[in-house]
Amino acid sequence: MRSNVYIETYGCQMNVADSELVMGILKNSGYEITKDINNADVVLMNTCSIRENAEQRIYGRLGNFKNLKTGKSNLVVGILGCMAERLRKDLIEEKKIVDIVIGPDEYRKLPEFISVAINGEKGIGVQLSRTETYDDIIPYREDGLQAWISVMRGCDKFCTFCVVPFTRGRERSRALDSIVNEVKQLSEREFREVTLLGQNVNSYLDGNNDFADLLAAAASVDKKIRIRFTTSHPQDLSDKLLYTIAEYPNICNYIHLPVQSGSNRVLQLMNRTYTIEHYLKLIEKAKQIIPGVSFSTDIISGFPTETYEDHLMTLEVMRQVKYDGAYMFKYSAREGTKAYKMGDDVPEDVKTKRLQEIIDLQQQISSEKNQQLVGMEEIILVEGVSRKSDNFLAGRTDTNKVAIVPLDEKIKTGDYVRIKINKATSATLFGDIIEIIDAGENGLALTA
Ligand code: 5AD
Ligand code: SF4
Repeated sequence: MRSNVYIETYGCQMNVADSELVMGILKNSGYEITKDINNADVVLMNTCSIRENAEQRIYGRLGNFKNLKTGKSNLVVGILGCMAERLRKDLIEEKKIVDIVIGPDEYRKLPEFISVAINGEKGIGVQLSRTETYDDIIPYREDGLQAWISVMRGCDKFCTFCVVPFTRGRERSRALDSIVNEVKQLSEREFREVTLLGQNVNSYLDGNNDFADLLAAAASVDKKIRIRFTTSHPQDLSDKLLYTIAEYPNICNYIHLPVQSGSNRVLQLMNRTYTIEHYLKLIEKAKQIIPGVSFSTDIISGFPTETYEDHLMTLEVMRQVKYDGAYMFKYSAREGTKAYKMGDDVPEDVKTKRLQEIIDLQQQISSEKNQQLVGMEEIILVEGVSRKSDNFLAGRTDTNKVAIVPLDEKIKTGDYVRIKINKATSATLFGDIIEIIDAGENGLALTA
């Protein structure tokens, strides 16, 4: 009898990519993937440890699984990912319903662990590796427009607040050829957007090929495929990379460049290894080299010792850069990190208030930036019918903004369309269709 595996994914896009990898490994071993948890013989959770509330959510969900296991005593429950790596044996000892704990570098062992668990034994695999990149595994992906490809694993940056270097281990890059092959397969399946993923993609290296070379190679596979990438560390973003983005019309003019804080004192405590002056110069340079480039960022409020003045500096950087988007978080102390030892001295209500000011400012900036687009032309990739109304289509611009246009019978999901923006809110653009674009012939350059 075949076993059905159900998998739930929490956390970052890297986890989404890892879950596809895990499904690929399990499919190769004869398991079936199910989307119905009630139909599952094996239930897996791919977990996140980045902030405490991420872990709390997963504990809550584990509570739900208890009932499931009461009704089906031979159900296998497995915890994958960063939380598995961080908590290890404790997870199995504290949570009796957990049968398997397996960290990010040991997924190849999953089929074996599941067989062991079916026989009633527990399995723990939490070794980190310096070489594992799962290069030879074809991830299991459903048909669609958009895919993630992980190009490297781990992180060597050791920002003092972050658990990733401990849960995902040292940095290592996948072979360029295997990544390009994956893009080719996605092209054959008519995917239209690929996001290259890594904790710090700019330190990608395969022989003499750096990340700019990889981007160029990926973009050359199929002009109809837009290439995105994340995440860039401000210390490692090279001029070559900026020129490569500028050169290839199908590499999106969009850079996720986490700043974390606007205060040099805090940045130093965070071990971010750049100053705000360096960061702002980089932004200016990128704007010169890539016309129309936009940026998004990550910001942490309430890092240990953060003063009101430090907080004001963060708001000031946001005003200067005018990010198109921001992921904004309250600092969460993580055991085992350097920052944990600094104490968590910014009171919760102060963190909350500062975070709210950051969110409000970003909303105001997004709204102003979107208003400036009214009357302008953009090219969008049509993703389907709008969630809010069947009479409209939804798509995304090169800079990742959602745009809504009236339904048109000639336009299909996956088409590139030139539109003219006629209205904007802080989150959405509204436009009229000008023409469908043959991306294969003309590339995706915005020649408005
Ligand atoms: N607390 C709050 N935010 C964090 N991040 C990473 N670790 C923490 C933490 N301990 C944020 C950073 C990072 C993003 C992925 O998550 O902003 O860029
Ligand atoms: Fe964590 Fe810093 Fe590495 Fe990002 S660059 S994963 S924040 S240690």
